[in-house]
Amino acid sequence: MRNLSLLKVGVAFAAAVQGLNVLITNDDGFGTANIRELYKQMTDLGHSCYLVASATFDVGSGTRLDFTNSPKMTRNGDWDLVKSGAPSIGPDPDDGHIWYYNGTPAAQVVVALDYILPTFTKVKTPDLVISGPNSGWNVGPFLYTTSGAIGATYMAIERGIPAVAFFSGNTVPTPYFWVNASTKAGLQDPATITARLASTLVQALIDKAAGSRILPQGYGLTVNLPYITSYTNEQCTNPPFVLTRMGGNAEAKAVFNSKTGLFNRSRDSGSDDSHCANGNCKIPAEKDVLNSGCMSSVTVFAVDYSAPYKWECFNISDVTALVPVIVQLNGSTPLVGGLGPNASVVGNVSLPPTPSPGSTPPPMTTISSIGVRAQWSLSVLMASLGVLAFLF
Ligand SMILES: *[C@@H]1O[C@H](CO)[C@@H](O)[C@H](O)[C@H]1NC(C)=O
Ligand SMILES: *[C@@H]1O[C@H](CO)[C@@H](O)[C@H](O)[C@H]1NC(C)=O
Ligand SMILES: *[C@@H]1O[C@H](CO)[C@@H](O)[C@H](O)[C@H]1NC(C)=O
Ligand SMILES: *[C@@H]1O[C@H](CO)[C@@H](O)[C@H](O)[C@H]1NC(C)=O
Ligand SMILES: *[C@@H]1O[C@H](CO)[C@@H](O)[C@H](O)[C@H]1NC(C)=O
Ligand SMILES: *[C@@H]1O[C@H](CO)[C@@H](O)[C@H](O)[C@H]1NC(C)=O
Repeated sequence: MRNLSLLKVGVAFAAAVQGLNVLITNDDGFGTANIRELYKQMTDLGHSCYLVASATFDVGSGTRLDFTNSPKMTRNGDWDLVKSGAPSIGPDPDDGHIWYYNGTPAAQVVVALDYILPTFTKVKTPDLVISGPNSGWNVGPFLYTTSGAIGATYMAIERGIPAVAFFSGNTVPTPYFWVNASTKAGLQDPATITARLASTLVQALIDKAAGSRILPQGYGLTVNLPYITSYTNEQCTNPPFVLTRMGGNAEAKAVFNSKTGLFNRSRDSGSDDSHCANGNCKIPAEKDVLNSGCMSSVTVFAVDYSAPYKWECFNISDVTALVPVIVQLNGSTPLVGGLGPNASVVGNVSLPPTPSPGSTPPPMTTISSIGVRAQWSLSVLMASLGVLAFLF
């Protein structure tokens, strides 16, 4: 087991910044608070960031490549940020590094790599792709395969670009213009803290790589962050990162309706199977770490799905060697918060709430109804996983 001292973590947080070209996408849409906060923070860390994502919420696309058939938007984007009839692709009028495209998350990645970046920027290939933070967890191998947000990362990884996906236990997406400098509890907005956790881990990976590839060819990370409680209290505002492996917790079932003769996908969270086929089985499953409290799960994955030639061909030091020291082994004492020891999450009460642009945001039910309309209703499944996590 690795010893993790506060000092080592402190050093990791103080390491020098190198500016990278970073592509950021998600499957909740380009106007969500989480992705905009991450974009701002990664830019503030000195990286050249490009945000390319859909104007609308999308779930369960895996790596499905859906390019729109219409040159124009056929309905309004979420929060009416993009109107029906607008072009199906375009930059944010206030920031040329932010684009929307009417396609699946995997399509965002290839449209960015093959069109937006080469046409409108000097970036040939980004050094890193980040997907998320998305609202709702993606836990286990089943959701790994079906998630559009992870699909975006393995689309990038298959093109040779390291990628990291982030998921948040705060299951309702909020728009970027609802991020307040302080919550009623006097703390930072959950979206700000969620993005700080993501940017801190990414920066630690960048510092660890010291100019070389952030992860080996074919490798990526998927990270689930817990529910950030800063609306009401400080209880879970600085969760530690814990090294995990995928394991169980979700699967799809077909439910036959004899009246209609049609099938529905069940919304069960699936079996509790934590089987371990590959990797080091001593590393806990994501769901076990997430269900045991205020911790983030960090799983290293490989897009080479071939079963290993040898049983347990990764031993613990091998996987551990791929992640920065802020990703700790379960059971390490002390487990240091992901934002670093003694990090402050106090909000700026002297700043007024962010004003919303032009139109009044529709109620949050608009978002859910988009999710329900979506083919697989994965949002509901993910939301129920989030709820289950707190019941268990
Ligand atoms: C931010 O403040 C505004 C105005 O008080 C409020 O309507 C909004 O709900 C707040 N956003 C969040 C995410 O709490
Ligand atoms: C499938 O589920 C939806 C939402 O719960 C419901 O409205 C619909 O009737 C169901 N369809 C079938 C075929 O059972
Ligand atoms: C397992 O880890 C140890 C270091 O703890 C290393 O010396 C050894 O080579 C590793 N085994 C394999 C099969 O890579
Ligand atoms: C994490 O480690 C603690 C202490 O060793 C142990 O009690 C707990 O069961 C472990 N959790 C998981 C999810 O393996
Ligand atoms: C964190 O706070 C504790 C208690 O206030 C203090 O003893 C410690 O030196 C601080 N650590 C760092 C790294 O600032
Ligand atoms: C809070 O906001 C005010 C006004 O922009 C700024 O002067 C001050 O430095 C901020 N304080 C913190 C702690 O960020």
